[in-house]
Amino acid sequence: MSSKKSKKTYKIAVLPGDGTGPEVVNEGLKVLKAVGEKNNISFEWVNYDLGGERYKKTGEILPESVLNELRKVDSIYLGAIGHPDVKPGILEKGLLLQLRFELDQYINLRPVKLYPNVDCPLKDKGPKDIDFTVVRENTEGLYAGAGGFLKKGTLDEVAVQESINTRKGAERCLRYAFEYAQKRNKNKKLTLCGKTNVLTYAFDMWERTFYDVAKDYADVKTDYAHVDATCMWMVKNPEWFDVIVTDNMFGDIITDLGAMIQGGMGIAAGGNINPEGVSMFEPIGGSAPKYTGQNIINPLAAICAGSMMLDTLGEKDAADAVEKAVVTLLESGKIKSLSAGKMGMTTSEVGDWLASHL
Ligand code: IPM
Ligand code: MN
Repeated sequence: MSSKKSKKTYKIAVLPGDGTGPEVVNEGLKVLKAVGEKNNISFEWVNYDLGGERYKKTGEILPESVLNELRKVDSIYLGAIGHPDVKPGILEKGLLLQLRFELDQYINLRPVKLYPNVDCPLKDKGPKDIDFTVVRENTEGLYAGAGGFLKKGTLDEVAVQESINTRKGAERCLRYAFEYAQKRNKNKKLTLCGKTNVLTYAFDMWERTFYDVAKDYADVKTDYAHVDATCMWMVKNPEWFDVIVTDNMFGDIITDLGAMIQGGMGIAAGGNINPEGVSMFEPIGGSAPKYTGQNIINPLAAICAGSMMLDTLGEKDAADAVEKAVVTLLESGKIKSLSAGKMGMTTSEVGDWLASHL
């Protein structure tokens, strides 16, 4: 489009994190810089060494001062969190979930898109069949941390874990999903994924709110599926979906299934979005510590997360250019597999190729 528009600068916090996180982030930055040059966008990168190593050395997970700096950036670009020497849950809760809650990133956006030449485990399904997006509520539900123990450690122990659902939380998530379905403009269909037959309080409210909000989006078709049926349809008829909206826990589960049908964790990207605030983008595959430093991990998920970041910043042309380059690379057949070590290209070769083919 017009090259007259003045150059925009975005301040991006970069959290490479653990394991292979720094390697994939490197390639993502390479591609973002290259697309920025072509699209009159510049970036100010601010690096943060949050993650397992810092925690082991200093005991710090997310210092208040860092959190306050993160509140002021335009976006956050995250590699991966998770360290083999740190007990599971500590970094996930202390860093990833903490950032989601503190920055009120109430949407977890997960496109499920099968690109050409990518192996799909579903028989007779191709790129035209697998192309939908999950909008997951990202700050409430079972993740809110409500509950507790009684008589812990005894044979009479009671453990309660409550799902917190607020009308406000459901409504803002549903509005985002309706607007997303409108903007996506595929079938303009929004499916609420719930469990109204059993979770008769939480999903009763979700369902009532869904149909209330739907009145403001008359051009979007509404649909409903229970979460178990959603899993079944995602495998049997993924082409039925356009946008799915759901709560935090169900969204966590169905998006891993989604990642598998789009070719695996090597390609799956996600955004933790606060539409009015600071969002955070990440490849969802984790830190894959055993592949660290070998230049064999697939950086495509991180690069696609970069494209999502551009889109959310309002740089749609640049976002589309990155996605197009990824598709072109996959179409070329140069990438033999999305799995680490089997790609037929190194991590840095993938980034180099994309940066020079935008
Ligand atoms: C995800 C992850 C996280 C979640 C974990 C690491 C806490 O699985 O982003 O989907 O459960 O939300
Ligand atoms: Mn998950």
